[in-house]
Amino acid sequence: MTPVSHPASPGPAMPPPAPTAAAAGSTAAGPAKGARITAVTSGKGGVGKTFITANLAAALARRGERVLVLDADLGLANIDVVLNLYSRLTLHDVFTGRTPLDEAILPAPGGFSVLLAGSGLVEYSRMTPEVRDKLLEVIGRVRPRYDHVLLDTGAGISDVVLFTISLADEVLIVATPEPTSLADAYATVKVLAATQSPRPMKLLVNQTQKSGEGRAVRSQLQQVVDRFVNANLPQPVKLDHVGDVPQDTAVRETVQRRQLLLESLPGSAAAQALVAAAARLVGDRQ
Ligand SMILES: Nc1ncnc2c1ncn2[C@@H]1O[C@H](COP(=O)(O)OP(=O)(O)OP(=O)(O)O)[C@@H](O)[C@H]1O
Ligand SMILES: [Mg+2]
Repeated sequence: MTPVSHPASPGPAMPPPAPTAAAAGSTAAGPAKGARITAVTSGKGGVGKTFITANLAAALARRGERVLVLDADLGLANIDVVLNLYSRLTLHDVFTGRTPLDEAILPAPGGFSVLLAGSGLVEYSRMTPEVRDKLLEVIGRVRPRYDHVLLDTGAGISDVVLFTISLADEVLIVATPEPTSLADAYATVKVLAATQSPRPMKLLVNQTQKSGEGRAVRSQLQQVVDRFVNANLPQPVKLDHVGDVPQDTAVRETVQRRQLLLESLPGSAAAQALVAAAARLVGDRQ
């Protein structure tokens, strides 16, 4: 398989990473105490970030973690659909001061909390200083109250996506084995390495077709990163493979029914893979 045989050009020598606060074990939101913040992101859209975020949150909650999912796909949010939640209270209302933060944090079916965002709001199509400050303030307030905060970001490398990723302590990149997804995952790693301070970067390979596929994907991606990204960096990017989630008809079935896979089909291969990935995510912290 040669999915990333034509990676984005390495381009000119990369600038040194921007001195975001994440460099010294803290993020732009302040010193890293309280919850670990994980940004779940991808280069290509539609690879399964939202499905994975919701079910990873349920798996972490089952382990006794206090988990908050923040729908950071500002403007195109849809985790409410996956979780079958109909609240009209969203981050937008918190940002505008219409709703206190505590009222907008809702209990989700999997035993975790969720902070929804609005959809179809053009004001979140680009990052403004106001939105930046509000988001920082929200992260600063929720961090002490949880063990784990998952940010379900949008796809791509827009300024909104990059800023939400900069708030996290670690980045979980979701990719499928398709060449287009891998090329875009590579591009995301390259941009993050060039513009943000180094943080743990993890890889979850979704929709795998056979066993061992994720490991092969990870090593292929790592090779390209070593060749075109790490050559210019003082601190090389190492992608930590947290697991594979197989392509599974149970996923579409439960998404259609707006149920969590972990709740309604916990014995499915994809659910078990997510439980293992959650153990791996917390494992390196213990
Ligand atoms: N492991 C899987 N097996 C089968 N289908 C899957 C799997 N993972 C995701 N899907 C399908 O892909 C769809 C899209 O997933 P999801 O909305 O989570 O992607 P996304 O990355 O969040 O998209 P966006 O970039 O638009 O936010 C799901 O609704 C589901 O039908
Ligand atoms: Mg999504």
